[in-house]
Amino acid sequence: MRAWDFALGDAVETLSGAEGRVLLVESGEVLLREASTGRMARAKTSELFRPGARQALATHRAVLGLGPAAGPQEATRAFRRLAKQHHPDKGGDPETFRSLHDAFQVDTRCALHTSQAVAWRYLRLPRAAVPTAGEVLAATKYALSGKEVLITGACNGIGLALALALLECPVKKLYLHGRCKERVAEVVARLPKAQRQKCCAAVADLSSLKEVDDLVATFTAPPDVIICCAGIATLPRWTASRDGYESQWAVNHLAHFHLVTQMAKSSSSLRVVMVSSDLQKLGKRWLHLDSATLQGINNPSCYSFLGNYITSKYCNRLFAASLARQGVEAVVCTPGEVATDIDRHLPWILRRLLRWSSRKLLPEQGAATLAFCASADVQPGAFYANSRQVHVPTEGAAEDELWQFSERLVAAALKH
Ligand SMILES: NC(=O)c1ccc[n+]([C@@H]2O[C@H](COP(=O)([O-])OP(=O)(O)OC[C@H]3O[C@@H](n4cnc5c(N)ncnc54)[C@H](OP(=O)(O)O)[C@@H]3O)[C@@H](O)[C@H]2O)c1
Repeated sequence: MRAWDFALGDAVETLSGAEGRVLLVESGEVLLREASTGRMARAKTSELFRPGARQALATHRAVLGLGPAAGPQEATRAFRRLAKQHHPDKGGDPETFRSLHDAFQVDTRCALHTSQAVAWRYLRLPRAAVPTAGEVLAATKYALSGKEVLITGACNGIGLALALALLECPVKKLYLHGRCKERVAEVVARLPKAQRQKCCAAVADLSSLKEVDDLVATFTAPPDVIICCAGIATLPRWTASRDGYESQWAVNHLAHFHLVTQMAKSSSSLRVVMVSSDLQKLGKRWLHLDSATLQGINNPSCYSFLGNYITSKYCNRLFAASLARQGVEAVVCTPGEVATDIDRHLPWILRRLLRWSSRKLLPEQGAATLAFCASADVQPGAFYANSRQVHVPTEGAAEDELWQFSERLVAAALKH
């Protein structure tokens, strides 16, 4: 069984019978919080089962007359033999045949893979809640102790949830970024006194590269970790940033590009977490990233409210990969689908429909993968979802194109 068969928050049972929730998946091992005692325990992934999956598989196998050790060929032979006997065309009982058919379907999908995790997926057992950022930080043993962390977009949504979780840890200093000082002050005022002392305001409207420059200048030394979380999505019309570029791309990608490249100049141990999206994978399909397409990003007649958001999130991924190639410990992640106001620009009917049709995570759950990327041992340049590495292709040429194009746009904006 492979480690990635388990996701954070999955309810599992161990071979010895203990049940718990997965807090962290590492090479071949998981960290569990035991359901009965609340204790943390480690277990090998090869010794785990989803609760009920073992029982459900055994029931289906019993219908086919198979023992637990029977392989896929035996399952096929048993089904063919029993189907000849019970097929309705041959006078068999339709109900018996249907239960045989169902059992065989489950068995071929599950037993063929010999993975109880796969069985769990097909048997549709209830999925447990995803852990919160706080739980992930506890599981990574507070690796951020004594570190300075900057979170962009920390005044609401996922960024705020992550900031609150980090303030529970022994971080040295937390730079809370917001677009104006009143917004940050409002957040800080709500915190307990001990946490307030660890907070520093980092103010910049990310639609202005000049303000990003001014923000960088306020730092005497770069923080240890930068979490690039600020973002806007699905603006209905082409909107210009204060520098005259398309807003979604300028805020989500270009501002973070400038912030991080400036900070990285004077740090040899910076960790960068770019917050992308599951949708970024459509970026490659839609966007053959060359200079012509990049020019199109700033062309109002090529604007698509969703396409430009996807492009900016795809650029987050390419940027993290470029940084990693240059020796910066940069990773990119998706928070999953999270209930925040990121969809505020969508038409209300679409927003209602999306909220009704999808099971969104709470912001503190959405922040879990960001917390993992900021504090666990990670692979530079890799893409993370559910606090696990997900394979994405490397795109060296597109990464270089984007880097050069971004540098040109930053230079042009700051020249004025
Ligand atoms: N929610 C999801 O389902 C989801 C899914 C995939 C990826 N993401 C990504 O997760 C990140 C966080 O999103 P969220 O869901 O937490 O959304 P959110 O609640 O809308 O938070 C976005 C943050 O970015 C800040 N921001 C936006 N434009 C800014 C600007 N020009 N200057 C300074 N700050 C600015 C916002 O500040 P103001 O409040 O002042 O506007 C806010 O703090 C985004 O990068 C988003 O693309 C979210």
